Amino acid sequence: MFSQRTAWNLEPNQLSKALADRLSSGKAVIDLTESNPTKCGFHFEAERILGALSDPASVNYNPVPQGLLPARDAVVNYYRSRNCAVNVEDIFLTTSTSEAYSFLFRTLCNPGDEVLIPQPGYPLFNFLADIQDVTTVPYPLIYDYGWQIDFHALQQAITPRTRAIVVVNPNNPTGHFCKAEDMQRLNKICLEGDLALIADEVFLDFSLGKDTPPTFAANNKALTFTMSGLSKISGLPQMKVAWLIATGPERRKQQAVARLEMIADTYLSMNTPMQLALPGLLELRHNFQQQCLARTRNNLAQLDKVLSAQRLCTRLNLEGGWYAVVKVPVSGSDDGLALELLNTWGVYVHPGHFYDFPGDGYLVVSLITPEGPLTTGIEALIGLIGEKFKKDS
Ligand SMILES: Cc1ncc(COP(=O)(O)O)c(C=O)c1O
Repeated sequence: MFSQRTAWNLEPNQLSKALADRLSSGKAVIDLTESNPTKCGFHFEAERILGALSDPASVNYNPVPQGLLPARDAVVNYYRSRNCAVNVEDIFLTTSTSEAYSFLFRTLCNPGDEVLIPQPGYPLFNFLADIQDVTTVPYPLIYDYGWQIDFHALQQAITPRTRAIVVVNPNNPTGHFCKAEDMQRLNKICLEGDLALIADEVFLDFSLGKDTPPTFAANNKALTFTMSGLSKISGLPQMKVAWLIATGPERRKQQAVARLEMIADTYLSMNTPMQLALPGLLELRHNFQQQCLARTRNNLAQLDKVLSAQRLCTRLNLEGGWYAVVKVPVSGSDDGLALELLNTWGVYVHPGHFYDFPGDGYLVVSLITPEGPLTTGIEALIGLIGEKFKKDS
């Protein structure tokens, strides 16, 4: 009856079951995984949001496969504010970056073709690829006082079926940006292998450093697709607006744009009110980003303060994004530790396994968690680890 591609194991894992049980029995949960900005206590300017949605022109339907021009102009302006010139004709609006990935996998891959994805990385890749009959092949990121791409391993992972390399800039959950030298090396590899680059930059604006990190949106060496959207930039995932931008050698880029246009024209998935609202909703990013950066910086400082009182757990270096990785001593599986933390202290964290860390000993916490719960949760984690190691020794 059903397709092979949907033959997933749909059983909830032990941690999700324990979380559901805890919530349904009314017990408190300190959630250190929350990454929905609308649930983290930020102030959203409701009047301006709703005002942006009430353009009278919304009563007309004017289907444009790539998206209405004023909306795409707003995307051009967003990049201009980062000193990056993008061409309005190379932009496609989509309802999410997930949809953008699907369009790209459909454009670039035949069934069974491969895309390289960073490991550790965003857990949704495997599902997005499965749905489009694409195979994901991980390339390792290595940590040495900071994360970097293992270029040797990346090159080893390329096969005749590889079609694209996915880069998340900054990566989720490791929080490292792609440096100018990395971009050059990626361009060289892609040009040599006739591969496309897919750059997911949803967290680009959330740099903890002073310099503005470079974007792939102006990369015209290899064929490149850069994506981002409102869900992170303005903290408005409910609006379902994202985009992808094609850049690269002119002929290749035009071929890609023509094919993508056919896909976009077939679905016409963007609705009119949201497209008309996009310029206003993008403007709201300044206010959101200010709050969000203050939150992540405070949380990081607090995390470091709590961690500095002991020696068993450390935080891995990060440069931006919404997550911190805590390295914990290995006394069993990360899943087991996360389960124990939930059952004993009601603290919910993601085990590193969830993001495909290569081994045990990693927990991931969301830095947009409200400040109080983050501190309480980390103190509980450290207490638990301290107890375990006292018992073990
Ligand atoms: C790396 C990455 N890309 C994309 C998204 C989701 O973006 P969208 O809501 O536009 O699908 C997320 C969400 O957490 C993410 O971590």
